[in-house]
Amino acid sequence: MQNDVYEIVARRGIFFRAFGIYNEVGGFYDFGPIGFRIRKNIEAAWRDVFVKKTGAYEVETSLIVSEPVLTASGHLSTFTDPITYCEVCGTPYRADKLVESYFEKNGMVEEASKVKKENIEELEKQLKSLPIKCEKCGNRKFSKIEKFNLVFKTQVGPTGKEPAYLRPETAQGIFVDFYSLYQAYSPKLPFLVAQAGKSFRNEISPRQQLIRQREFGQMELELFFDPEEDAASEIGVYNLQSLLNEQINFVKAGSEEAKKDSLASLLSSGQIPHAYMALLLFLEKKLIGILGIKDEEYRFRQLEPEELPHYSKGNIDLEVRTSYGFIEVAGNAYRSDYDLGQHAKLSGKDLRINVNGKKVLPHVVEASMGLDRLLIAALEHSWQKGEDRGWAWLKLPESIAPYRYAVFPLQKDEKLLAKAKEIYKHLLEQGVECYYSETGSIGKRYAKADEIGVPYCVTIDYTTLEDDTVTIRNRDTTQQVRKEAYAIQ
Ligand code: ATP
Ligand code: GLY
Repeated sequence: MQNDVYEIVARRGIFFRAFGIYNEVGGFYDFGPIGFRIRKNIEAAWRDVFVKKTGAYEVETSLIVSEPVLTASGHLSTFTDPITYCEVCGTPYRADKLVESYFEKNGMVEEASKVKKENIEELEKQLKSLPIKCEKCGNRKFSKIEKFNLVFKTQVGPTGKEPAYLRPETAQGIFVDFYSLYQAYSPKLPFLVAQAGKSFRNEISPRQQLIRQREFGQMELELFFDPEEDAASEIGVYNLQSLLNEQINFVKAGSEEAKKDSLASLLSSGQIPHAYMALLLFLEKKLIGILGIKDEEYRFRQLEPEELPHYSKGNIDLEVRTSYGFIEVAGNAYRSDYDLGQHAKLSGKDLRINVNGKKVLPHVVEASMGLDRLLIAALEHSWQKGEDRGWAWLKLPESIAPYRYAVFPLQKDEKLLAKAKEIYKHLLEQGVECYYSETGSIGKRYAKADEIGVPYCVTIDYTTLEDDTVTIRNRDTTQQVRKEAYAIQ
């Protein structure tokens, strides 16, 4: 069943289909003012954990990339999904998802989990043997499965002869800039580069709202290191030895069940392919905790060899439980020196750097987080039915709530309105995130603030006119306390 948070999402315009006044093209979403704020706050939380506290360099690279970049990275040849078409109405489907969702709908959990490993021939057999129907016309005949490349193509300049592409991941910008960054900043290994921004994939069947879009937010961290050296004891504020004691929920390749284990033990058994990847998992667990996702609602999953991306020597996904089942919110990959090696080869530039008199082509571990999937997870996990108060509401952590305060005059009385506006302006001048409303009953205004997760409502009443105190209503407890208005922060 769909989580009822989507009723609030739709009514309050948290996000909605893009180009909605025309025929909508699937896979594109716009964010209204509330969604925009929550989304930016999630990005800020990521920045704090992954960038500021690790000492990473953060960059912003081009969204459009030239052809050699994606030829070198392998995206133009291998970044594909299996496609099949309904032979009657022509609707395209991602073949693996079609088979997977058939198993899921029929409660065949184990079979569904195996689909990820299947090659095109195996998928083809299942598509023929299972009673799978076209979702549009009900027909049961599908075309031969082919590989469909997900990279969006465009061209640069007026001649139309120079092909270019929308980046399918933010990471390639970091790899092609690696040497420029090294020359400009002379960092010592290990050195970390981060980037948050949009990525684009021409998904065959975008679905599940923000979960599978064609344009989506990614937040990536690349950690460059010398593979011949031991891992550093500290990265920014994080101490590697002590964080290895952290317990995580982990599903090992070939298993379905998450078990608790320490990062240290998973590292020593080789299930985590490098100590720096243990750091990335630690940071991700920390971030989802900040977003309000509880311990029993996430799991790390070690990918099977058949599931690995073309560049990877080992991947671990972070999955969070949602009304759509467990969804991948982050991919962690040991990319080795694959990308730098490929770019060195194709550009003819030596991208090795000097480390104590030797030339090193650094290895990379990467944490690639999906901003929009985290937004979905944070919204769903904060949703409260609110039977006791008579309306559903969002228990968003304060740090990602769209506003800290809502400011309300108790009634539409000129004196109260003037005082409330004065206090509202004072808060804005202090840089506090807040909004003002005088429309509707005070109860309705509390309800509207609760349902977008505003932690505190400030109400200006007749006592305020006498002594400058206001009531502060706590969203979670609905309790009110009186406070000095000009001391609120
Ligand atoms: P999936 O298997 O769900 O297609 P993926 O393995 O292709 O995901 P990655 O290539 O590892 O995903 O991308 C890193 C992260 O970017 C994902 O964990 C996810 O959070 C996000 N992401 C990837 N594709 C999409 C998409 N189409 N829409 C929204 N977010 C996405
Ligand atoms: N950078 C990893 C990915 O987007 O697939």
